[in-house]
Amino acid sequence: MGAARAAIVTGASSGIGLAVARMLGERGHAVTLVARRPEKLEAAYEQLRGDGLEVQPIAADVGDEADVIRAVAAHRDAYGRLDVLMNNAGVGIGAPIGELSTRQMDLQLATNLRAIPLFYRESLAMLTAAGAEHRNALVVNTASIAGKHGQAWLSIYSATKFGVVGFTQAMNKELNGRGIKSTALCPGFVDTAMTDFVKEQVPAEEMIQTSDIVAAVAMLLSLTPGCVLPEVVFERPRGGSLV
Ligand SMILES: NC(=O)c1ccc[n+]([C@@H]2O[C@H](COP(=O)([O-])OP(=O)(O)OC[C@H]3O[C@@H](n4cnc5c(N)ncnc54)[C@H](OP(=O)(O)O)[C@@H]3O)[C@@H](O)[C@H]2O)c1
Repeated sequence: MGAARAAIVTGASSGIGLAVARMLGERGHAVTLVARRPEKLEAAYEQLRGDGLEVQPIAADVGDEADVIRAVAAHRDAYGRLDVLMNNAGVGIGAPIGELSTRQMDLQLATNLRAIPLFYRESLAMLTAAGAEHRNALVVNTASIAGKHGQAWLSIYSATKFGVVGFTQAMNKELNGRGIKSTALCPGFVDTAMTDFVKEQVPAEEMIQTSDIVAAVAMLLSLTPGCVLPEVVFERPRGGSLV
């Protein structure tokens, strides 16, 4: 208890989530790190804690309602407040529509989309308290450029990310009055493990970097209470054939 600011980051054991969790920690937030695989999460936790940051790891599957409830409760017990919620865990399964199993559809819907309203609902009391205190409670939802333009062979992924953008808009209408602001991040290819499959065609160094996402979230944190940024779209320079 007693942290001046606190945050939950899902998908915090690698890539975008880990980079943003580090930045939040460095800016004085106590951070609950959420991801499924305990060993990978533990490694991320040790890395951040070794650098002197206030963090706790909670192994949880955001696609599982009971796990979401448990993760938010563990955060509340440890830190007692929530100023920043980053709904970032996500999974993309590339397949033509004729070959997508129902299980593959449900996995993406539950992880990328349903988890987000569950986290809002469970966190609402803490976000409302933070919003009442400083009018700048922030929820960052990682969507994708696939949530702005439908992608072939990533149809369900695209649908979930469009859903994230729409849900974020709805949350601003519903919760801005409580000092809770929401932003959807919509990046093209980011150099993380998720894009390893395409790195022979698009070199990692030509992709968006996690530092770009970190810079955007830091900018969101610096906005005054009177300014809401509903969406940030990150594109790669034009000229390539892929997003
Ligand atoms: N990389 C890109 O090009 C790109 C572009 C646009 C949007 N995005 C989005 O950015 C977000 C982060 O992706 P990333 O690129 O940083 O990928 P990443 O490096 O593969 O990280 C994904 C993170 O999410 C966690 N995760 C996955 N499923 C989970 C679940 N059901 N419950 C809890 N945690 C889960 C993973 O850990 P475990 O697997 O151990 O759970 C890991 O920590 C995703 O929402 C993705 O859709 C990525």
